[in-house]
Amino acid sequence: MNGGNTMGINMDAFKGRDFLKLLDFTSDEIKALLDFSAELKEKKKNRVPHRLCDGKSVALIFEKSSTRTRCAFEVACCDLGIHPVHLDPRSSQMGKKESIPDTARVLSRMFDGIEYRGYGQDIVEEIAEYADVPVWNGLTDDAHPTQILADFLTAREKFGSLEGKKLIFIGDSGFNMGHSLMIGCAKMGMHFVACSPEKYLPRKPLVDKAREIAKETGGSVTLETDPSKAAKDADIIYTDVWVSMGEPDEVWKERIDDLMPYQVNAKLMSYASPDCIFMHCLPAFHDLRTGIGRENYQKFGVTEMEVTDEVFESKASVVFDEAENRMHTIKAVIAATIGEW
Ligand code: CP
Ligand code: NVA
Repeated sequence: MNGGNTMGINMDAFKGRDFLKLLDFTSDEIKALLDFSAELKEKKKNRVPHRLCDGKSVALIFEKSSTRTRCAFEVACCDLGIHPVHLDPRSSQMGKKESIPDTARVLSRMFDGIEYRGYGQDIVEEIAEYADVPVWNGLTDDAHPTQILADFLTAREKFGSLEGKKLIFIGDSGFNMGHSLMIGCAKMGMHFVACSPEKYLPRKPLVDKAREIAKETGGSVTLETDPSKAAKDADIIYTDVWVSMGEPDEVWKERIDDLMPYQVNAKLMSYASPDCIFMHCLPAFHDLRTGIGRENYQKFGVTEMEVTDEVFESKASVVFDEAENRMHTIKAVIAATIGEW
């Protein structure tokens, strides 16, 4: 490797850094990570070896369930030459018998990086404070930054660039996905619209922060309660589950009552630009082929929730491209922060 440069991108700025939230990265740094992800994707497709972290080990802590994020980290590790070790609350002492600072210091002595998925953003920040190695946020209640990289890589593949594109996030926009997309869009000079009933809109201090950033980048941040207005001429319509991991099952009824008018369906898509794409971080409730989907059908008579099966399965839907890109973008974050150049 030559002095921090690989594949034409200078990655020195990332070495040793945590990846906790997008606010910690400049617009140019986010673009560089997307470029790096695209390069790594190309290499993977062409079966060009890219073991940029050969011989390293990382800890992957999952306090909440995961399919995409866990698999993305594990496959990325394998491609990079890293040995990953998975830890969950049942198989580790963290939190119950051992404090977060102690766990972080122990893991730092054995691993070259630590991924954490769990509840409060304060927990991942505390791990990062005590760890001597890079810490990566695999999702908290506040942020899901690696997901946003995958979403942006996907949108860039479809549109060529992100700047000036209008993305609406509709549904429960005051949780991790709405928050992270709002900051990410502002950083990329995009026009972000959060569309929800008042009580589900993003938190005011974060909206103010995003607006400050958007002023610099030429983007904008709008809050809207009317779905037809929000979707007008949108390039991207994005939604997420109405009840997130860690929230009690009891809130389903209220969420369904409040958010059904915010479902992504063919009518909503018809207000958008003709080339509009549909995005979702997944998993999604678009049919009755899940346990929760069937339970909610029995209890409340709903067959589809945040998105109809018609839209989910339509040509506009890029959800599985996003899922694939989780791996390429997570690989870029790992390699950029702990790779040997
Ligand atoms: N989108 C996402 O983070 O999926 P998992 O919960 O399966 O990791
Ligand atoms: N808001 C969802 C995102 C899942 C990727 C959750 O936190 O469960």
